[in-house]
Amino acid sequence: MYTQEMLESIKRVEATRAARLADVKAGIHPRRMTAEEKVQVKKENHPDYIASQFAELVIGPNRGERVPLELAEMLQANPRVNPKDIDLSKIDYDVDVLVIGGGGSGSAAAIMAHEKGANVMIVTKLRHGDANTMMAEGGIQAADKPNDSPAQHYLDVMGGGHFKNVPDLVRKLVTDAPICIKWLNDLGVMFDKEADGTMVTTHGGGTSRKRMHACKDYSGAEIMRVLRDEVQNRGIPVVDFTSAIEIIKDEKGRAAGAVLMNMETGELLIARAKTVIIATGGAGRMHYQGFPTSNHYGATADGLVLAYRAGAPLLYAYTLQYHPTGAAYPSQIFGALVTEKVRSIGAQLVNKDGEPFMYSLETRDICASGVIRECKRGGGVDTFNGGQGVWLDSPMIDMIHGEGTIEKRIPAMLRMYLKYGIDMRKQPILIYPTLHYQNGGIKIGVNGMSDVENLFVAGEAVGGIHGENRLMGNSLLDIIVFGRNAGVHAAAAAKEVTLGKKLTLSHVKDFMKEMKAAGIKTDAVSPKLLPRYTHGNPVFDQPNAKLMK
Ligand code: FUM
Repeated sequence: MYTQEMLESIKRVEATRAARLADVKAGIHPRRMTAEEKVQVKKENHPDYIASQFAELVIGPNRGERVPLELAEMLQANPRVNPKDIDLSKIDYDVDVLVIGGGGSGSAAAIMAHEKGANVMIVTKLRHGDANTMMAEGGIQAADKPNDSPAQHYLDVMGGGHFKNVPDLVRKLVTDAPICIKWLNDLGVMFDKEADGTMVTTHGGGTSRKRMHACKDYSGAEIMRVLRDEVQNRGIPVVDFTSAIEIIKDEKGRAAGAVLMNMETGELLIARAKTVIIATGGAGRMHYQGFPTSNHYGATADGLVLAYRAGAPLLYAYTLQYHPTGAAYPSQIFGALVTEKVRSIGAQLVNKDGEPFMYSLETRDICASGVIRECKRGGGVDTFNGGQGVWLDSPMIDMIHGEGTIEKRIPAMLRMYLKYGIDMRKQPILIYPTLHYQNGGIKIGVNGMSDVENLFVAGEAVGGIHGENRLMGNSLLDIIVFGRNAGVHAAAAAKEVTLGKKLTLSHVKDFMKEMKAAGIKTDAVSPKLLPRYTHGNPVFDQPNAKLMK
């Protein structure tokens, strides 16, 4: 239900719609920004450029680099438990490959490690599948149509990432993409298809070809459904409600397991493993700069903390993705994802007067910056608590493609808004950027290994694939490409490892010494594990009492 002021603004949107539709049908779109304009709009409006929201790290492998304040606090926080209180001789789980994280990349990694004959186990702090993968809506990119090629896809990814991407990782991403779509299709993912079986593909922001494969707007949920089934069918053990709170090493400094914590009881458990894969996902629940998020409840940058304390450098941890279209209204869905697919199938961004203030499918960083600028300029519509949004003119979709398109192509969106009395087939929806993706993360090589031997990383915890800005549909792709890749390489590496008797957390002790030497005094403990919207959880809200002595 919209307010009276919103309804007045909608009348102005409706008044410009016929002319805008005629333009779109004639192939005329609002002008794209020049390269110079993009640099300008980003510098002046993108949250990554607000210097006061970043801090320089004073310890660890990325000492001297700036990261968001909230991440700096976690990277330079006290461990949850003091290493001297942990008995590493009592092994609770003993496996070849330990996968930390039960989302898309962790599941793909576990499946491939199992395929290669490894004894693999997944630990996940919530339930198997509670992950950003499940929340992904719009689709997965792959250049598998005759008018497209991995080379073309490569250029789009590099351009979208402002050429900061690690070229070898991008090459792997785009060349494995068609194989991964086939793999998912063969496993049973129900992609949208034409009557003849051809995959339906659409554009995303910054794509030069239509290569977005989707399962309506439930793409991530459908992929996760199938991966979870496959893990279960293979009998791969999944230990849920159990988080990793520290990486364990062997005497040669190689990753050799993890300290685990039962999320319900706080009990500590030791997992020994020949190789370890961090697949812990993103960081939206860090709520950088106070932004709402499209991420799942457990997205708290834990993997970055684990890896950092183990000595693995991060890459581009200063760059976050604010998805241009988070729900700005109603408050119950504030920050929820309004898939880019809504724009890719025809909805236009317009301001409170119905003016299309920018091309709607610029890359995400530019589009988010443009929306923020428009609100600053006074083109926004007031929402609640002093917030603003601009319109996404969704009724255009059915007007362009025919009645029933919204229901067929983006049913999740339709349902989300109908719950609150808003029919997006008839009325536009209000959007504002929401914290969506961690562009940066742990540095890896093409084999998926971090700078710590036998510590592999996959999925959103990786940095460098997407440079400073990821394109839509390349996250579902990267979790599969680099999840599978990490699983294969971690299984192969495990075959070469004979673990010594002595496991150690000396790196954690060293980190604590480094903190002390740097004069860091903080009550913060990490990894964060869960966001704190309320107080009073005795296990997670209190700094470890013993550590504080
Ligand atoms: O807009 C979306 O559907 C999000 C997709 C993505 O982040 O890749």
